[in-house]
Amino acid sequence: MSSLYKIAILPGDAIGPEIMAQAVRVFGVIEAHRDLSFELTEAPFGAAAYFAEGKAFPERTKAICDAADAILKGPVGLSFEESQKIPLAEQPERGAILPLRARYNTFANFRPVCLSRGMAHFSPLKPTIIKDGIDILLIRELVGGLYFGKKERGTDTAGKRYVHELLEYTEDQVRQVLLVAFEQARQRKQRLHNIHKSNVLMSSVLWNEVLDEVHRDYQDVEVIPLLVDAAATALCLNPGQFDVMVMENMFGDILSDQCGGILGSLGLMPSACVGPEKAYYEPSHGSAPDIAGKNIANPYAMIGSVAMMLEMSFAMNKEAKLVWDAMQGVFADGYSTPDLAASSDAMQVVSTEEFGDRVITRLDAALAEASA
Ligand code: IPM
Ligand code: MG
Repeated sequence: MSSLYKIAILPGDAIGPEIMAQAVRVFGVIEAHRDLSFELTEAPFGAAAYFAEGKAFPERTKAICDAADAILKGPVGLSFEESQKIPLAEQPERGAILPLRARYNTFANFRPVCLSRGMAHFSPLKPTIIKDGIDILLIRELVGGLYFGKKERGTDTAGKRYVHELLEYTEDQVRQVLLVAFEQARQRKQRLHNIHKSNVLMSSVLWNEVLDEVHRDYQDVEVIPLLVDAAATALCLNPGQFDVMVMENMFGDILSDQCGGILGSLGLMPSACVGPEKAYYEPSHGSAPDIAGKNIANPYAMIGSVAMMLEMSFAMNKEAKLVWDAMQGVFADGYSTPDLAASSDAMQVVSTEEFGDRVITRLDAALAEASA
C-alpha cells in the first residue's frame, strides 16, 4: 500500500491564495513520480475566515488541522485600515496565528536564511560582504516571551493609561528550544550563536543559565554569545560568520525580518514551526495586501515552505532538495518576480504563476530523471 500524507491547506489572506496555488502544485508533481499520495484539505483561516464565518480560526479549520499530518499556511492579515473592521481578538495575528502556534505548541521556529552564490545579486549587501553566499539557520522560540505573556491595560488613579506586557519564560520552555538549536548546530558546523540581552533583561539571564546547562551535553558545539543589538549589526557586516543562531520570540521576529532584507526580499524566507507532535509551515513574510491579486508576488518562500515540510515532516529529503534546486534553476535561467528584479538588469521579470510554471517544469524533469 502506498503512503498517504494528509495536509491541511490554509491559503490565508491577500497574496496568500495566489502563492499557495503555486506551492500546492509541488505535491501533484511528486505524486506523479512516486508511489505515494497527498490528501490536501483546504480550510479558511485569517481575515478571510473571519469575514466568511465570524472566526479567524474556525472550529472546522481546527478539526482539519488536528486530523492532518502537517499544515501548510499562507500569510494572513490585511492593511491597517481593513484590520480595524475586525474586533481586536479576531484580527488574524491574535485570532489565528497565535492560537495556531499555541494549539500545536510549535515552540521551535526554523527560519533558514539562504542565499546561494547564484542568488548573491539579490542582496543589497556588497559582493565583498556576501562572498560565497549566506547559509544561516535562525531558530526562534515561538510560543513564549512577550507574545504569550500576561497583558493588561488600564488607567491609573491620575487617569493616565498604562499597559503591562510580560516577557515570560519557564526554564523548561527555554530548554526545549535550546535542545533543538544544539542538535541543529551539532549536525551542521558545531557553532551556535546565542543571541541574548542579559545586560538588561532578566529573561536573558535565565536563558543563558539554562544554555550553559544544556551545553554540558554538547561539548562538541562552540557557543558564541552575542547581544541582540550587536547581532543586528554583525548580520549586515559579516553574515558569513553565522551558522545556527538561537533566540527568544521577539528577538527572532525582528532579526528574521532583517535577514529577509539581507537576502534582498522577505519573499525568500520560508519557515517551519515545529511542535512535539506536529509542525506547520509558512512563509515568514506578511500577506502584502498592496500587491494582492496582481499575480506579481514571489512564491519562493511559500514553495520553500513545502520543501521544508517534505524534509522535516515526511523525511523526503531528496524530493525537498529537488524543489530547492528547481527554484535555484529558475533564478539561474535569469527569471525572477518583480520584488527581486531591481537587483540586476539582466533578470527577466515573470509573474507569480509563470515562476510557478518554471519551477514545476524543472521539478518534473528532475523527478523523472531521478526515478529513471
Ligand atoms: C512572523 C510574523 C508574525 C509574528 C505576526 C504575523 C504575528 O511577523 O511570523 O514573523 O510576529 O510572529
Ligand atoms: Mg515577523
